[in-house]
Amino acid sequence: MSRVSFNRKNIRNNKLLNEIIKANYKETFWNEEDKILPIHVGVNFVKLYVEKDGDKAISSPDCLHQDCEPFTFAHLIERTNVTGGTNAIAIPEADGNKPEEIDNNDLIEVFEITQPLESYGVYDPDVSHYVSPVEKGNGNNIGVRLVILIDYQQTVVADVDE
Ligand SMILES: [Fe+2]
Repeated sequence: MSRVSFNRKNIRNNKLLNEIIKANYKETFWNEEDKILPIHVGVNFVKLYVEKDGDKAISSPDCLHQDCEPFTFAHLIERTNVTGGTNAIAIPEADGNKPEEIDNNDLIEVFEITQPLESYGVYDPDVSHYVSPVEKGNGNNIGVRLVILIDYQQTVVADVDE
């Protein structure tokens, strides 16, 4: 996996990305106290690519897990000549396992995003999530799966107990 670096200024000014950030924000929900201070938005481009047959690009961590941000949305930018990259959503208790290791009843959904801007979102406290490794497809060109991850987090204020 590689974190792709884009020109930050161009990306920040990208109208489509800004509209997506606003649209995703509308899907989030917060306690009244969370809304007093700014909500932080994290934007990461995650590119999995494979050059040769038999190569595997693995997302980290390679198991069902939860992130610490309450909301994360994933939007597909590109998926070319790859197999895998299958998403799984499961109950939180499945954390640390591969989807095939858990009881089928604990698996909520298994799917692939294949079209540009196809998306999904998770409310982290309620689920664990996973994306399977990507391998090269049958074409001659390199395999690529590029996703934008947008996460939302309230300002975390330290608890001072005195
Ligand atoms: Fe994650």
